[in-house]
Amino acid sequence: MQRTELIIVFLLHSFILIIGKECIISEDDSKTLICSDNQYITSNLTYYLSTFSNITQLSIMHSYLTAMPDLYNNNQVITLHLDNNHIELITENYSSIEYLYLTSNHIYTLHQTNLHYPKLKLLDLSYNPIEHIIQNFFTEQQFPQLKILKLTNALKYINPYILDNRLISFSPLKYLNEIYFDENDLEEFSCSKTPTYIQWNLPINLKKFSLAKNKLISFDTNCFLQISNITELDLHSNLLKNFSNSTLTLPHLSKLRLDHNLFTNIPSNLLYLSQELNELDLSANPLKLKDIKPRKQYVFPPSLKILYLNLTISDLSCLLFENLIELEQLHLVNLTTTKLKNCIFKKLTKLKTLNLSNHHLKTIDEQVFRPLLSRKQLDKLDITSHFLYCNSCSLRWLNEFLKSQNTTQVNCLDQQNKQILLNTLDVSSCRSSYGIFITTVLVLFSTVFLLCIILLFYTCKHRKLRFSNFQPVYHMVPLQHYEDRIYQNTTEDMTNDNVMLVT
Ligand SMILES: *[C@@H]1O[C@H](CO)[C@@H](O)[C@H](O)[C@H]1NC(C)=O
Ligand SMILES: *[C@@H]1O[C@H](CO)[C@@H](O)[C@H](O)[C@H]1NC(C)=O
Ligand SMILES: *[C@@H]1O[C@H](CO)[C@@H](O)[C@H](O)[C@H]1NC(C)=O
Ligand SMILES: *[C@@H]1O[C@H](CO)[C@@H](O)[C@H](O)[C@H]1NC(C)=O
Ligand SMILES: *[C@@H]1O[C@H](CO)[C@@H](O)[C@H](O)[C@H]1NC(C)=O
Ligand SMILES: *[C@@H]1O[C@H](CO)[C@@H](O)[C@H](O)[C@H]1NC(C)=O
Ligand SMILES: *[C@@H]1O[C@H](CO)[C@@H](O)[C@H](O)[C@H]1NC(C)=O
Ligand SMILES: *[C@@H]1O[C@H](CO)[C@@H](O)[C@H](O)[C@H]1NC(C)=O
Ligand SMILES: *[C@@H]1O[C@H](CO)[C@@H](O)[C@H](O)[C@H]1NC(C)=O
Ligand SMILES: *[C@@H]1O[C@H](CO)[C@@H](O)[C@H](O)[C@H]1NC(C)=O
Repeated sequence: MQRTELIIVFLLHSFILIIGKECIISEDDSKTLICSDNQYITSNLTYYLSTFSNITQLSIMHSYLTAMPDLYNNNQVITLHLDNNHIELITENYSSIEYLYLTSNHIYTLHQTNLHYPKLKLLDLSYNPIEHIIQNFFTEQQFPQLKILKLTNALKYINPYILDNRLISFSPLKYLNEIYFDENDLEEFSCSKTPTYIQWNLPINLKKFSLAKNKLISFDTNCFLQISNITELDLHSNLLKNFSNSTLTLPHLSKLRLDHNLFTNIPSNLLYLSQELNELDLSANPLKLKDIKPRKQYVFPPSLKILYLNLTISDLSCLLFENLIELEQLHLVNLTTTKLKNCIFKKLTKLKTLNLSNHHLKTIDEQVFRPLLSRKQLDKLDITSHFLYCNSCSLRWLNEFLKSQNTTQVNCLDQQNKQILLNTLDVSSCRSSYGIFITTVLVLFSTVFLLCIILLFYTCKHRKLRFSNFQPVYHMVPLQHYEDRIYQNTTEDMTNDNVMLVT
């Protein structure tokens, strides 16, 4: 009897341990084990994990781990999440792991040179207070397959004075394609052997490179000598005012983010930078785009397919888009200009999406938009804005146009601030309100006219009274009498010039 009780207690215990809050094994294939918020798991972890020898994915998160677990008995694990623990050093060898996440730990140094991660493709070290990286840490021997390295918010505490030669080198990583240095408060990123700053050696096959959300005021173009085959460059949210130098070319660059910086002009070397630039984001820069000088060359490279100019505060010159015959998407969200020039979209023959949401335009001018719509290329036009509702009568032409064409989807706001498709709105309501509008104008006009006449009368009268010493007016109607007349009679009397004087 006592034995059965013991067994039941034991079973209950293991049930809680496996199925309970601490660790959950996936029910479908028993390949994923997830442990979190468990400070007791650390006690005999290796033994505990050996009972799950077949798992391919293991997550031990928020569990107060101070060291990386020994996975000697779990040699099938491919993905390992060890985020949000108290790990301080990278010490273990993992032969089977391809994806290793160590974000939000206490890793302060990358110091070991006897590691071997033969299959590792992704290493995420984001959100760690790394102070030191030894020169031979990122080597081919330690990480022969590494493709993606994330160091977001991991280098804020890096100490240049303890780095060997002030150098951080990734260049031995032959297969490294993507590297992320976001959110590191970097003011400098230098690759040209100046002794003052940390020198970075980038891997030669890098395709995607991100330095977003730092404090860069300039960028050393010598870095690109090492990575000329780059395809994506992200420099958004920095303090850049110019983008380097006219001799620079990155022949394979296809995507460039320069949004949320301090550019006042569109960098002139964008034109020569790459023949393959497809996507460019220059949103949220204090750009002055109104008076672009007609240069010999154009402003943007003609290869652009997607262009973001959200949060632009300037008026737009027609020269801006003059050569963008390949452009398919134009994002002009939160544009503050109130009027667009007629020629602005004229050359955009392949445009498919135009996003003007949250604009401040007073009208959607037929002259500006009809050429664009008539081409039947455009299939999305977003004009949602609190400055222009769907039922605005300046949209009547557009509504009628859409009804006849039935090709373009035009978003705007209805009276309840809900986004709707413009062509679902009944035009006739606009006609009647148009009628009301005309009537209102007429009524207003006549009232103003009436007031003018009265004013005229008073001025005349006062003038005449003032000069009455010189020229007495014998036939003047007393004021009281005259007012009575206005209120008794129709406006016809008022238009009569003789009304002021009564014979
Ligand atoms: C872990 O548990 C196993 C089995 O109970 C035991 O053999 C081993 O000695 C334990 N290891 C430690 C470090 O406690
Ligand atoms: C692991 O998988 C093998 C074969 O697929 C199976 O025989 C074995 O029982 C599994 N072991 C565990 C602990 O699930
Ligand atoms: C990792 O593996 C390599 C080679 O297999 C070995 O030389 C090294 O000592 C191991 N390192 C650790 C920390 O176990
Ligand atoms: C760059 O790409 C070209 C063509 O894809 C290739 O021949 C060349 O080896 C690459 N260069 C580097 C440094 O990766
Ligand atoms: C870019 O701007 C920085 C800082 O304002 C300045 O030091 C640098 O000379 C400029 N570079 C070019 C090429 O204009
Ligand atoms: C411009 O780039 C070239 C190589 O791309 C480099 O040699 C030169 O020093 C750079 N000039 C400036 C002002 O950064
Ligand atoms: C610009 O607007 C597009 C939507 O048209 C949006 O997807 C994108 O995130 C915006 N970019 C910025 C920097 O605001
Ligand atoms: C864009 O405009 C909308 C509406 O005016 C506003 O709510 C939003 O905050 C603006 N976006 C930015 C990034 O300023
Ligand atoms: C236009 O941009 C706004 C703001 O980024 C977004 O919410 C909306 O979905 C976009 N419209 C289209 C048609 O992509
Ligand atoms: C308009 O488009 C809608 C949806 O795409 C379709 O159902 C309808 O038949 C079309 N009308 C005309 C007149 O082409």
